[in-house]
Amino acid sequence: MPAYSASAPGKIILFGEHAVVYGRPAIAVPVLQVRAKAIVSVDPRSFPGLVKLQAPDIGLETSLYDLPENHPLAAVLLKAAAAMQLSHIPACNIKISSNIPIAGGMGSGAAVSVAILRAFSASLGHPLSDQQVSEISYEVEVIHHGTPSGIDNTVITYAKPVYFVKGRRIETLRVKRPFTLVIGDTGIQSPTSSVVSDVHKAWEAAPAHYEGLFDAVGATTASARKAIEAGSVDALGPLMDENQAQLYKMGVSSPELDELIEVACSSGALGAKLSGAGRGGNMIALVTPETASKVAMAIADAGAVRTIMTEIPKT
Ligand code: PMV
Repeated sequence: MPAYSASAPGKIILFGEHAVVYGRPAIAVPVLQVRAKAIVSVDPRSFPGLVKLQAPDIGLETSLYDLPENHPLAAVLLKAAAAMQLSHIPACNIKISSNIPIAGGMGSGAAVSVAILRAFSASLGHPLSDQQVSEISYEVEVIHHGTPSGIDNTVITYAKPVYFVKGRRIETLRVKRPFTLVIGDTGIQSPTSSVVSDVHKAWEAAPAHYEGLFDAVGATTASARKAIEAGSVDALGPLMDENQAQLYKMGVSSPELDELIEVACSSGALGAKLSGAGRGGNMIALVTPETASKVAMAIADAGAVRTIMTEIPKT
């Protein structure tokens, strides 16, 4: 029984979360140290249509047809089967594992979808294109999040830094000089859909104020793009601080995020901000190779349940 495996990285948003839902640009990068993995083994001897799913990390052991159609794992397989024009899904076993924190702004849902789509389509001799993989994982994100911008599925499918504007063709970003980030997890799970919906309500109540904030975020993100492409790593820190101030004004930070950001900056980070939907999840700090360990230790002491150091390589 041949097995096909595929994996997909986590991601963080460097600049522009929330404003990206309202058409402004955002920058996201893959985080290669954390990954979701899917292993698919087709079992021709088994009962046709019997698709066994195992995800030990979340205690899930079931079959496709015991899941509701709008369950993300069922949706990804059914949509993949439709894209491959399969008349039926052959019997197979699908094992999913991931060390990407769940509901922490690191794209765990999209990474699981991308890994399954690649392993499943390869196992059937019909590998889906990157565009199809990205589109189907977007459709599954809609089930998770309601109105996603599409940034997660894009950066995770292509596994490259992206400058993302909703509805536009993917633009990858040239990183002229590598830079190092420390990612600190508050340990607080914060579902993206509820934070996005709160921002939406706040925008409805004060549209001019929020449009002004989103414009400011768009300008910060555009400056960050120039800095990354010019290799001006030093300029990125103050731009991260600026973006954090904008996110704070949007009401998506939290005391725990503020504390980790403050501690990171006072222990030598060049800049820091929340990453993703906010209210919990992860923060990121720009560090140098010399300050990385000190900043990581300081935020762990201040309550981060996990820290990840990642280098964004030159591209
Ligand atoms: O990183 P996440 O999955 O928490 O997503 C947050 C990004 C938002 O801009 C808040 C929402 C979106 O769909 O872009």
